[in-house]
Amino acid sequence: MIQMSSKYTTFVKLGSNKDLSKLELSVLLKKLGVEDVAFTEWMDYILLKLNRNNFAKFFKILDNTGSIIKAGYLNSEVNIDREDIWKLKLKDHLIINIEKFSSEKNKSLKIALDVQAKNIALRNRIINFIRTTIINYSKEVKIQTKIIGMKKTYSELTPFQFYKENFPKRGLEVTSFSVKSKLIFGITKWVTNPLLDIKQDERRQTRLFTHGTSIKLARTLVFLSEVSNDGLLLDPFCGTGTILIEALKRKMQTIGVDKDPKCFRASKDNLNAFSLQYPAKAKMKDKWVVYSQDSRDLGKILKEKSLDAIVTEPYLGPFLKQLPSIEEARETMKTLEKLYIRVLREGSSFLKDTGKIIFILPVYHYSDKLEVHPDIEKIASQCSLINQESSKFFHVSLPLQIGRKHNVINRYLAIFTKQLNETR
Ligand SMILES: C[S@@+](CC[C@H](N)C(=O)[O-])C[C@H]1O[C@@H](n2cnc3c(N)ncnc32)[C@H](O)[C@@H]1O
Repeated sequence: MIQMSSKYTTFVKLGSNKDLSKLELSVLLKKLGVEDVAFTEWMDYILLKLNRNNFAKFFKILDNTGSIIKAGYLNSEVNIDREDIWKLKLKDHLIINIEKFSSEKNKSLKIALDVQAKNIALRNRIINFIRTTIINYSKEVKIQTKIIGMKKTYSELTPFQFYKENFPKRGLEVTSFSVKSKLIFGITKWVTNPLLDIKQDERRQTRLFTHGTSIKLARTLVFLSEVSNDGLLLDPFCGTGTILIEALKRKMQTIGVDKDPKCFRASKDNLNAFSLQYPAKAKMKDKWVVYSQDSRDLGKILKEKSLDAIVTEPYLGPFLKQLPSIEEARETMKTLEKLYIRVLREGSSFLKDTGKIIFILPVYHYSDKLEVHPDIEKIASQCSLINQESSKFFHVSLPLQIGRKHNVINRYLAIFTKQLNETR
């Protein structure tokens, strides 16, 4: 066997909003206590030189993220121009992993490939080589293997297929990336599980389509808040309770507020149904409370409370089928700005000094040069907050656009922290 070494140890596949995934990855590394990390961003991937001692925690914490697609180990790295050598190394990589996974996971092993190369001819050569190697080796050692996704052209498994095909129990996904002059080989360890979100969505008692945050986005927002177990999170525009449920899943305490009685009831129903899924029902029930009230008067509810985070997708203005005139847009945004300032000023006075506010704002996009949105700096200064402008790793600038530019109402994600040592 050839001794394998690799510069990068881990890969992460970013979601459709790469910056959002990078923000989550940045928080994840912070949670691991990583101060500095060597990385390369390449296509939809980030390759990291993560210390092996952090592996177990890294893959576990990924379950709490909402926008990252998959991640895995990188085991070996070889120069691309020596085809004889990369074939040898790739063959070793395949054999080691087939042996390991077929003994761990039954006699019959499903195999998928994630082969990424900008050069299509090279990609096809790698895929064909992997395919023939697997077929020949399986015959030789009499292991039953089946390559999934191998039609005329090879297509990578989606997360949905990964779980439908039962890969966590019965499969092995081999990865190969051609980055500049190197070929890097690895295996997938973790994939986001859309089936869990579908199940959770089906279990919701009440769905109000105009009032809901998506489960994935809610998970991302809660993760970015960095609240630890038993910390207290407030959603002052709680709608149907999606953010609150994600926070409860992370063992946080939560308070929800919504002024619409229909939403208040929906949140209560959804949180009750969620609590019932847990054997220690009484305990879960103690962890949340929702109020039917206008959030401009948060003080009445919060009283002596000390919040670790405010996380919310607030009211984003009227539901629109087309963009309003610019004057109308500016009017709407001014009204929303006032609402947000009232709520955040009140809410942040109950926020711990270390607390964070994860906040979504609406934006109407007219052209690349013209968009109308609430004044984020004004909101920050009037509430004695700091508008965070970038992430610790990966050079992400905030506020960050989420959603697609052609939607009528678009959104910005802003992160605020408290301005300290200042009198208001
Ligand atoms: C986009 S939805 C929130 C979705 C929610 N974050 C979730 O996880 O399902 C906005 C909510 O804000 C509520 N709302 C609007 N103005 C409010 C106010 N002044 N005080 C409290 N809730 C308000 C609306 O009733 C609506 O349910």
